[in-house]
Amino acid sequence: MEIRTATSDDFERMIAELADQPAAQYHVRDRWAVQQRDEGLLLVALERDEFVGRTMVLRSSKYDEVRAAHDPVEINALHAFVRGKGIGTALIRAAEAVAVDWGRAAIGMGVEPDNVQARRLYERLGYVLWSGPRVIDRWTEQAADGTVVRSHADECDYLFKRL
Ligand SMILES: CC(C)(COP(=O)(O)OP(=O)(O)OC[C@H]1O[C@@H](n2cnc3c(N)ncnc32)[C@H](O)[C@@H]1OP(=O)(O)O)[C@@H](O)C(=O)NCCC(=O)NCCS
Repeated sequence: MEIRTATSDDFERMIAELADQPAAQYHVRDRWAVQQRDEGLLLVALERDEFVGRTMVLRSSKYDEVRAAHDPVEINALHAFVRGKGIGTALIRAAEAVAVDWGRAAIGMGVEPDNVQARRLYERLGYVLWSGPRVIDRWTEQAADGTVVRSHADECDYLFKRL
């Protein structure tokens, strides 16, 4: 498996492959814009030149209270297109390597309390529950033209790892 920072060719290919999924297409465009603003990296996982997963590594936490307390790098929107084959693990390891490369001391992510599969994986990789309060993950589902279809405010546990 190869994990790399998305190139502009990767971006164009992802958009083309998501032609029939406008919300996912918007999500990828939004993530690409984050990378273009140098606020983070969009990591893609490939197996035999096919995309099998992706995640965003953010330079700053989305959550004010976490940023104020620790200022960790943050893993956001981790997604393995096929489960249980080590893609999630490889993306998390790659995100941790990016954080070390940035000279940072910690990394974290918000996890919905009922996402037990993700949480078990993170804990196995050394992430622990942050001592602060739960965070509220605010995000929107958007159509291809950016129109907000639905707004979410999900309470999440924050998991944290010192590097
Ligand atoms: C959470 C998520 C990213 C995990 O990705 P994944 O690729 O399935 O994770 P991995 O394969 O690395 O690890 C999952 C399990 O498979 C096992 N595994 C790892 N490599 C394996 C392999 N080659 N063969 C079989 N099993 C393997 C791991 O031991 C792990 O077991 P555990 O859950 O008991 O710790 C994935 O389930 C996902 O995309 N979920 C939907 C989106 C989501 O919830 N994202 C997280 C938001 S916080």
